[in-house]
Amino acid sequence: MEVCFRPYTAGDAERCLILFDKNCPEYFAPNERRDYANFLASNPGDYEVCIANGEIVGAFGLMEDEPNISRIEWILLNPNMQGSGIGSVIMDKVLGQARGNDVEIISIATSHKAYMFFQKFGAIVMSRTEDGWGAGMHKIDMELRL
Ligand SMILES: CC(C)(COP(=O)(O)OP(=O)(O)OC[C@H]1O[C@@H](n2cnc3c(N)ncnc32)[C@H](O)[C@@H]1OP(=O)(O)O)[C@@H](O)C(=O)NCCC(=O)NCCS
Repeated sequence: MEVCFRPYTAGDAERCLILFDKNCPEYFAPNERRDYANFLASNPGDYEVCIANGEIVGAFGLMEDEPNISRIEWILLNPNMQGSGIGSVIMDKVLGQARGNDVEIISIATSHKAYMFFQKFGAIVMSRTEDGWGAGMHKIDMELRL
């Protein structure tokens, strides 16, 4: 599967929210939709969409928190594309971007449903909050040290 990336623009919000809906409630708690909509409405500068066959099939961002510390924001793929290696392509891009900007720590706030994906790239669990994202969706805070 050939994928490419481009910066997020305001016109992509609807498509990104459709991707959210396709991953809810399996991977995101329903109450997180408003947070994602607000995030998209803020026109995040470092957010990117992932395109395959001319369609937006995913999105992610690496945002700077402070010098040398960045965080992965809202990484998600269309469920029909999950498990086919696009997430790994995104993580390679994230790691390359981080190294290029002298980032030392990437923080990741994820869920009990996805943390094992980030573990594959060296992220370690820092804490777990029961129901941290909403009922039945536990929050896992992780750090990936470069
Ligand atoms: C998490 C996500 C971005 C990963 O992308 P992907 O394209 O499915 O991942 P890949 O196919 O590149 O998988 C890489 C490896 O991670 C594993 N993996 C992927 N998702 C996983 C998950 N949710 N839990 C455990 N392992 C997972 C794969 O099995 C694969 O392992 P392998 O190398 O041993 O074969 C994608 O599955 C997704 O959008 N999930 C739903 C939304 C979500 O939970 N996002 C994270 C919120 S912070």
